[in-house]
Amino acid sequence: MSAALRPVPRPGVLDIEAYVPGKSAAPAGVKLHKLSSNETPLGPSPAAVAAVREGAAALELYPDGTAAALRRAIAGKYGLDPERIVCGAGSDELLSLLSYAYLGPGEEGLYSQYGFLVYRIAILAAGGTPVVAPEQDHTADVDAILAAVSPRTRIVYLANPNNPTGTYLPFDEVRRLHAGLPGNVLLVLDAAYAEYVRRNDYAAGLELVAESENVVMTRTFSKAYGLAALRIGWMVGPPAVVDAVNRIRGPFNVSAAAIAAGAAAMADDGHIAAAVAHNEAWLPKVTQALTDLGLPVTPSVGNFVLIHFPDAPGRSAAEADAFLTARGLILRRVGAYGLPNALRMTIGSAEANEAVIAALTEFVKERAHA
Ligand SMILES: Cc1ncc(COP(=O)(O)O)c(C=O)c1O
Repeated sequence: MSAALRPVPRPGVLDIEAYVPGKSAAPAGVKLHKLSSNETPLGPSPAAVAAVREGAAALELYPDGTAAALRRAIAGKYGLDPERIVCGAGSDELLSLLSYAYLGPGEEGLYSQYGFLVYRIAILAAGGTPVVAPEQDHTADVDAILAAVSPRTRIVYLANPNNPTGTYLPFDEVRRLHAGLPGNVLLVLDAAYAEYVRRNDYAAGLELVAESENVVMTRTFSKAYGLAALRIGWMVGPPAVVDAVNRIRGPFNVSAAAIAAGAAAMADDGHIAAAVAHNEAWLPKVTQALTDLGLPVTPSVGNFVLIHFPDAPGRSAAEADAFLTARGLILRRVGAYGLPNALRMTIGSAEANEAVIAALTEFVKERAHA
């Protein structure tokens, strides 16, 4: 065996910076408030927990590879054809499968400047070339995205609302984006935070999916549904795209626990209403309190806020992060998004939100007199 010969990953793989999940540890003896992954402080629906417990009696059996019960529950809630739905191990899996199915070497996948980082990973992992369109005011810019389209573009990812910025595009802008794309370009509308959006001009994209051959919407059970641990996402799209994704996905990509819990959670409208009401109460309060401290907050429609810190010694995002972490308040550094002077905070429980506001009040006062 020659030492000089070894397996080499495909071009692009080693260009990927592995995704770094939000931190989840606090110093010993300090109560942890994890506000780093946009999880809900309300937890999952009790019906979902009961479904997982019940499923524990049959762990030796493979799940239904078509996730039919879950697709039926989703289709029932949204008035969709279950045949147009594919479920995945989180929407992350579906975002990747779409690049695997539609992108090849020399072809381009497009996303916007502060767009969710998984898009870049999905594009590179599929052997494609990432192309980034600049944003305006931390918001996707339709004209810039359309200007970045080339004859090699095959897929465009748009998180609406976007993580980590919390900004969104009104639906007429999404329509304008779609209208400007060639028919052979797949538009992926990632609506992971759709449940939280309270804006009359917002739509997650179902109408556009229904009337187009090149639009897919992805959704997740990880955020408002409180089921991140189970990894459940779904997509709805035209039959040809659904067929392509079904050919390349793992035959049992969604676990039995996920299928049962997801279907039960879909039926619990009250739980989602409570999660949304909690966010609606706290998002403006947190935004206002931090703004009053002199920390600019990007206006968010999601369950998180992007907080901007001065690029000044003693008052930086890195120092604020260390200050908060010491108090058990775990926010998210977003340097990997090109936002080294910001932290992303998930809207947490009342206790967690108040603790962050109190700690940042202390941080700002202390550092102002330093
Ligand atoms: C915009 C966006 N899309 C997709 C996801 C992936 O969620 P999941 O794979 O848990 O469904 C996230 C999670 O952070 C997200 O912020």
